[in-house]
Amino acid sequence: MKFEHYMPVRILFGWGRLSELGEVASSFGRRALVVVGRRSARRSGALDRALDSLKRAGVDVEVFEGIPPNPTSTLVDEGAEEAKKKDCDIVVGLGGGSSVDCAKGIAVAAVEARPVWNYVVSEHPSGALPIIAVPTTSGTGTEANPYAVLTEPNLKEKRALNRPPFTYPKASIVDPELTLSLPPRGTAVTGMDVLFHALEAFVGKRCNPFVEAVAEQAVRGVTKFLVRAVKDGSDREAREGMSLASTAAGMAINGGGTTALHGMEHPVSAHLDVAHAEGLCALSGPYLKYLAEVVPWKMARVAEWLGEDVSGLSEERAAEMAVVAIEELKEGLGLNLRLRDLGVHEDMLEILVSDTLSVMGHNVANTPGELDRGRIYEFFREAM
Ligand SMILES: [Fe+2]
Repeated sequence: MKFEHYMPVRILFGWGRLSELGEVASSFGRRALVVVGRRSARRSGALDRALDSLKRAGVDVEVFEGIPPNPTSTLVDEGAEEAKKKDCDIVVGLGGGSSVDCAKGIAVAAVEARPVWNYVVSEHPSGALPIIAVPTTSGTGTEANPYAVLTEPNLKEKRALNRPPFTYPKASIVDPELTLSLPPRGTAVTGMDVLFHALEAFVGKRCNPFVEAVAEQAVRGVTKFLVRAVKDGSDREAREGMSLASTAAGMAINGGGTTALHGMEHPVSAHLDVAHAEGLCALSGPYLKYLAEVVPWKMARVAEWLGEDVSGLSEERAAEMAVVAIEELKEGLGLNLRLRDLGVHEDMLEILVSDTLSVMGHNVANTPGELDRGRIYEFFREAM
């Protein structure tokens, strides 16, 4: 066995810990650009509490507001200009994955003269402003890895800015209280993203024993708490369980990466601006069946983590149970979607397959078994 493990993020987990943001930030800078989404952080009071905490610790604040669900590289460049103009020396991402990822991009572009997309595609930056992540959903896990998913609006390409060590948050505050106001649909979709992160990192070729441990924790957490958190958003135990699962899954992809499921989904949300995890749900049916074929021993473990009784069953049979359990979970959450429901047309499939292979080729390479163009095309067709 041979692997490398690197996870340099200081994670502060627990109820009410948003109040520590100022103290944490003050050790990295004096003026923070706070990057937030369109409305929810303001409406829930999280933004005010974050700003209060920063000001109390003597950190000046500038707010960069209105980040959409799929943030673009041009928006990141605007934010970087703002950070330069206002002399910010730290970037705080407060919100769902989009706000935190946008903050990561701004942190890089603010110290460089060139647009952020250069650093997404090829160039290694010379540094970045310190990043603090404060997730308000339990979904992306970006608080525990160096990935920032951005879309280039003209190319319609969605890729991850991945420049360790610079794009790791210096610290992440994971406060389950911030997720209490997340509506049922948002809770459900971001929760499915957690499940797929953990599952993909575990089945991927780059999986190692640490990845496996956190993937198991994440899948067990989703199994126990996702439906509860969706049914009753004020269920604190469930919210805490989902926050923990999300961060664990973020750690899982930090080491193990994602596979062809994320590889196929990015082109879909790049072309159609759909919610990331809705795309994952739509594509997952045929892909999970493929996994049960090529890595039944891994999918059998996943079945166990999903709470299925697999004692005495063959690996193949247990693997099939994992596929059925995930289908049932999607069904129960109202996420049994087809690509057609998301606006995908038959005549788009060729370009989606091409983008999967070119833009997301590293994800295809991390997928177990041998995937070729024809098989990927089949996944898309079956998911229609
Ligand atoms: Fe994801």
